Amino acid sequence: MKKLNYLSEKVREADLEQWYEALENFTYETQFVEITLEEGKAMHSLYEARMTGKSLEKEELIIEKVIQKLQATMDKFPEGSFVKLSSRSAKDASVASKRTITIFKELLDKIDNSTMNQKLIAINRAHILALQLTSAKEVMDMFLGSERINSDLDLALQFSSTWSQHFIVRKFVPIPIEYEFRAFVVNNQLRGMCQYYHYIYFPTLVLNKEKIANLILQKFEEMKDIVPIRDKTYVVDWAVDFEKEKVYVIELNPFGDYENMGTSSAMFKLHDNIVAMDRKGPDRDIFFGDKPFEFRIETSEKDDINLWNLMFGPWKSLFYEIFGDLLKKT
Ligand SMILES: Nc1ncnc2c1ncn2[C@@H]1O[C@H](COP(=O)(O)OP(=O)(O)O)[C@@H](O)[C@H]1O
Ligand SMILES: [Mg+2]
Repeated sequence: MKKLNYLSEKVREADLEQWYEALENFTYETQFVEITLEEGKAMHSLYEARMTGKSLEKEELIIEKVIQKLQATMDKFPEGSFVKLSSRSAKDASVASKRTITIFKELLDKIDNSTMNQKLIAINRAHILALQLTSAKEVMDMFLGSERINSDLDLALQFSSTWSQHFIVRKFVPIPIEYEFRAFVVNNQLRGMCQYYHYIYFPTLVLNKEKIANLILQKFEEMKDIVPIRDKTYVVDWAVDFEKEKVYVIELNPFGDYENMGTSSAMFKLHDNIVAMDRKGPDRDIFFGDKPFEFRIETSEKDDINLWNLMFGPWKSLFYEIFGDLLKKT
């Protein structure tokens, strides 16, 4: 229980409503729609019910009202909103959604998609663009089909005396996937940073690495002392608008030298053994020891087989469906 308490505290601290006021000038415009405890319970029950094809009348009625109030706020962003729960989004539910596949095919038509690297860029882009929605009903359907949302509701419901969940409704700002970065902050020092979509090679990052690093490091200096995370140890995801030389905080995530470490360490290897979660990986001294700061990017394009082996499981299934057996020739 003590361990769960600690995890819950780390997750709650990184919730958007906990830091938005302090960091409003560093991030995207956001509106908050309260989710009451009763509504949270209804959403949690409906996830399982819908998975198993059951209908729950009382909960569906509650949800209809929730959709109405969410819609009123989403209407403030007529171009489309990005909606998430306080801690995480329903991006897992968009993975194999029809919208993602349609957008993916449209993007493929517009680019030279002869390599796996290019196909991966398109699918990652499509999967996020699919979250640009104007209909609260569609958002709710996405939420009620999301394992991430359900597990976050589950944790929040276990600590119902401190319940504070919201729909986070943000203006949808398309972020080119090459300009998204993950940075690791330990004791208020930025110890490591890397591209968010690791494995993918982006020539523009190789050309502009130093300039990007400087833009982010400068923004971090402006921000670090007002970040309301008690132990000043967290992950921050950045979006860089390279043309305008602007840097935005996308979100904060829990991080630290504890089991699972809160969030994915992307291009840094913090575990030698993923099953045992032993926390002895070769890069841990960059964050928790005395190795110097590193900014990592991919410096060359991986070959198709290598990328295929590293690829996120659901993309593999989707690629099989759309392109057939891509690797047969090799
Ligand atoms: N306001 C926004 N507009 C457009 N895309 C966004 C916005 N906020 C986040 N994204 C994209 O969606 C992804 C997931 O959002 P994020 O806030 O990081 O949620 P999660 O906690 O689920 O990772 C981000 O990595 C980014 O690519
Ligand atoms: Mg994120």
